[in-house]
Amino acid sequence: MFNDLKNRFDFFIRSHTKFSRKNYRGEIENRESAYVFDILNKYLKPEYEENLKVLDIGSKNWAYVRGEYNFFRQFTSKLFLDGVELDAYRLYSDLYSRYEAAMFYIKGLENVNYYPDNLLNIRGKYNYIVWLLPFVTPYPLKCWGLPMKYFMPEKLLKHAYELLDGEMFIVNQGEEEAEIQKAILEKLRIPYKFLGIISSKALEYKNLRYGYVIKNGD
Ligand SMILES: C[S@@+](CC[C@H](N)C(=O)[O-])C[C@H]1O[C@@H](n2cnc3c(N)ncnc32)[C@H](O)[C@@H]1O
Repeated sequence: MFNDLKNRFDFFIRSHTKFSRKNYRGEIENRESAYVFDILNKYLKPEYEENLKVLDIGSKNWAYVRGEYNFFRQFTSKLFLDGVELDAYRLYSDLYSRYEAAMFYIKGLENVNYYPDNLLNIRGKYNYIVWLLPFVTPYPLKCWGLPMKYFMPEKLLKHAYELLDGEMFIVNQGEEEAEIQKAILEKLRIPYKFLGIISSKALEYKNLRYGYVIKNGD
């Protein structure tokens, strides 16, 4: 109760002030990008399309955007890549925001946009949706500093599915979250393929990750 009040207050302040130091510098080529490229390469097999629209959900600071960009760019001459992040103005201890960092990571990438917004406000259709570590239980969302009113895994998944005209790749952290993800998919009657453990030599995480592929529009 008290924690949620604190999260609501902090979230309100940062979303409205949008404060950040300017000119963030990070590592453009980083292990997160290499990891994302590798797992997409292992688990998705896109066919070549003239235009490809891709959405990344919950992009954080989008340090891994180049992994997605370089992967999908192989299958199209015109890639449109969008990232959406609800808590884009969260500050790091050095007073740079996720938004400022994301602006650095997407620099120079054509037709790539980072939206500091709620997924529920995203419209249109996407050929591919990448969703790495959605919140399917309340505790991680609370620890992330988000107000509880944003805990709505079913509503978000339903919306993401409505945006989909192709394939969605979901990665969950830990067996418990993967089981909960499965239960949500089944409750919403969304057909899925379970991929089992998702791993990559590029970056090995302490907790095992599990994946799902969801298709529609065939
Ligand atoms: C566990 S983090 C994963 C971040 C990133 N995808 C990664 O793999 O490092 C989940 C992210 O989803 C974001 N998020 C949660 N609810 C959202 C919503 N309704 N719309 C957009 N982003 C949301 C959170 O703020 C958080 O950055």
